Amino acid sequence: MPRTLLWALLLLLTAAAAVAAAAANTPEATVKVSHLVLESAAREFLLKQDLRYSRECKLAVTASWNYHTNVTRRNRQDLEEAQERFSEWTKESWEEARKWISLLPYFRDTDIARQFKLLSVLGAPALPKAELLKYTRIISEMTAIYDSTTICRYQNPGRCDVGMNKGLNKLLRKSRNYSELKHVWKSWRESTGRIRHRYQQFVQLANKAASANGFRNMAEMSLAQYESESFREDMAAVWRQIRPLYEQLHAFARRKLREVYGSDRVTQRGPLPAHLLGNMWALSWKLDDLFLPFPETPPVDVTPEMQRQGYTPRTMFEAADRFFYSMNLTRVPASFWRRSVTRVPADRQVVCHPSSWDFCDGSDFRIKHCTNVTQKDLVTIHHEMTHVQYFLQYRSQPYIFRAGANPGIHEALGHAVALSVESPRHLWRLGLLSSPHISYKAEMNDLMRLALDKVVFLPYAYLVDLWRWKVLEGSLPEKDWNCGWWDLKYEIQGMKPPELRSEADFDAASKYHIPANIAYTRYFVSFIMQFQLHKALCMKAGEYVPGDPTKSLHKCDFYSSIRAGNAMREMMRLGSSKPWPEVIEAATGERKMDGSALREYFKPLEMWLIEDNAKHGEFIGWRPDGEYCLYEKPRTTDNPARCQTDN
Ligand SMILES: *[C@@H]1O[C@H](CO)[C@@H](O)[C@H](O)[C@H]1NC(C)=O
Ligand SMILES: *[C@@H]1O[C@H](CO)[C@@H](O)[C@H](O)[C@H]1NC(C)=O
Ligand SMILES: *[C@@H]1O[C@H](CO)[C@@H](O)[C@H](O)[C@H]1NC(C)=O
Ligand SMILES: *[C@@H]1O[C@H](CO)[C@@H](O)[C@H](O)[C@H]1NC(C)=O
Ligand SMILES: [Zn+2]
Repeated sequence: MPRTLLWALLLLLTAAAAVAAAAANTPEATVKVSHLVLESAAREFLLKQDLRYSRECKLAVTASWNYHTNVTRRNRQDLEEAQERFSEWTKESWEEARKWISLLPYFRDTDIARQFKLLSVLGAPALPKAELLKYTRIISEMTAIYDSTTICRYQNPGRCDVGMNKGLNKLLRKSRNYSELKHVWKSWRESTGRIRHRYQQFVQLANKAASANGFRNMAEMSLAQYESESFREDMAAVWRQIRPLYEQLHAFARRKLREVYGSDRVTQRGPLPAHLLGNMWALSWKLDDLFLPFPETPPVDVTPEMQRQGYTPRTMFEAADRFFYSMNLTRVPASFWRRSVTRVPADRQVVCHPSSWDFCDGSDFRIKHCTNVTQKDLVTIHHEMTHVQYFLQYRSQPYIFRAGANPGIHEALGHAVALSVESPRHLWRLGLLSSPHISYKAEMNDLMRLALDKVVFLPYAYLVDLWRWKVLEGSLPEKDWNCGWWDLKYEIQGMKPPELRSEADFDAASKYHIPANIAYTRYFVSFIMQFQLHKALCMKAGEYVPGDPTKSLHKCDFYSSIRAGNAMREMMRLGSSKPWPEVIEAATGERKMDGSALREYFKPLEMWLIEDNAKHGEFIGWRPDGEYCLYEKPRTTDNPARCQTDN
């Protein structure tokens, strides 16, 4: 095989270079020849891989598109086959690429070296076949348990049909019945916590997978994607920046909850009972009627105006496309309009979750979105179109670089654009509001709604992987998994369970991303960086001027700013071809995640909260008001108690 031949030749050459280097004191010439030959062979290899990738990827993505826009058994089968084929191919290509790793020190072309570095990490599929099967089986068993979880009704315990999309979300938002909420919270965890025994097996296999990729454990492997030795400390530092604002929100919510549930349940200085925040994980607190500063002031909603003006899904997408080309960015290609699905088709069933698609050939990009003519969907469409803009900008990169600069940045940019689009100023520029200004009360309500979504999410988004990393690297012993979870819930989120938990429970598993093994850090990163990027783009646009109250960050819209657009392009076109600190430096002048833009954005709300909390003499922060989890004494391994619920 020519490939093998080439390989032998390369090894000989490097060996020769090494021998020459050892023999003579001036081996320059030999080494130079060898690295040039090496690099041109490497380039050829990468180019071939790239072409092949585009073909294979296109097949897989097409099968996935066909299924998601036309849900049939046949399309499902085709998709599974395509995925199988694609993962076999990626594994082969990983094995080929890995052979080059030992030669990395000889490459002078950093671009080539970086491609091989990224190509050398495959993830779980690096496991031997039998173990990979076991690994995927465990994950699918765990997610099956999660997906099939329904709970019994509080008033009618014989009817056990309440699932997450079957009324549970609504119940959590609407009910003010403490015992009912506690029942729901506990039942959900009783069922989802059954995976504990499987999770042990999962951890072992996950770490084996990490070591097959050259890492000590899966925690190290996940962190490696952020390409920074200090990333964990950076996250902690960012959280310390945000915490004062979170504590104000926390104190405010505690007073409001105390007014509803009484001070023996919601104590003056204690953490918040985790089941009362209107969300199963208390990761967003969507209790508008309780938490809005001015509940009698109606929200800004341009939906009726959009309908009056005859907006259609098509014109909403056109507005989003205009957003980008107004900034000197790229219009979507004509095929986008022909191939995207922008409304529910009459002749087939589709998976309606909005998504953006890159067909890996540099020309085919689509969105699937079941559009309603509403303000919310107008914003979502801009978010999705940001993903497509990103695809368009990095389309000429080699495939391994066709990705966000880090796992959070694609989303961060989408959210940054959404912040701009949602601003009254932008809605006014679209002709949907009669003035770029809204009342102070409406503004505070808007900021609060956003904070209940984006700020209160941060401690949760921070602690999920903090816990998971401890589990994966073994610094949290298995006998303390649940109490270790509650230590973090208390410490970071200021939450307590409605009743004493123990190691018979497994509360981390109550969130899908644990059984399904989906990393969570990217959400933290994207929620921090969206404000950082938003601020940078707003400054380029001259729409945010520090210290100028008429140019506050939360009012900014960078629509039609060519300087902002050029900065966005500079970031986007690099894809992941450079470490992300370099990528964001071009646009933001910063090389790290930074929470100060978020603090700045919410400044007016924070001032309001500080004043309101002071007026009511609220304690800021939290102190323990009881015991939350029963740490077990060490015990022998043959104690079967823990596995009993897992059947
Ligand atoms: C949906 O998929 C089926 C194959 O499962 C195909 O026969 C049908 O034509 C597709 N429908 C549309 C509208 O593309
Ligand atoms: C909560 O709901 C249960 C069952 O419907 C009811 O018996 C109880 O009185 C309710 N508690 C409150 C405080 O409303
Ligand atoms: C617009 O973008 C192009 C690159 O697509 C760039 O060459 C040009 O300088 C930009 N125009 C302005 C006015 O900045
Ligand atoms: C959006 O439109 C779909 C049909 O396309 C409809 O079933 C759904 O109820 C609508 N949702 C809202 C929030 O109006
Ligand atoms: Zn997105």
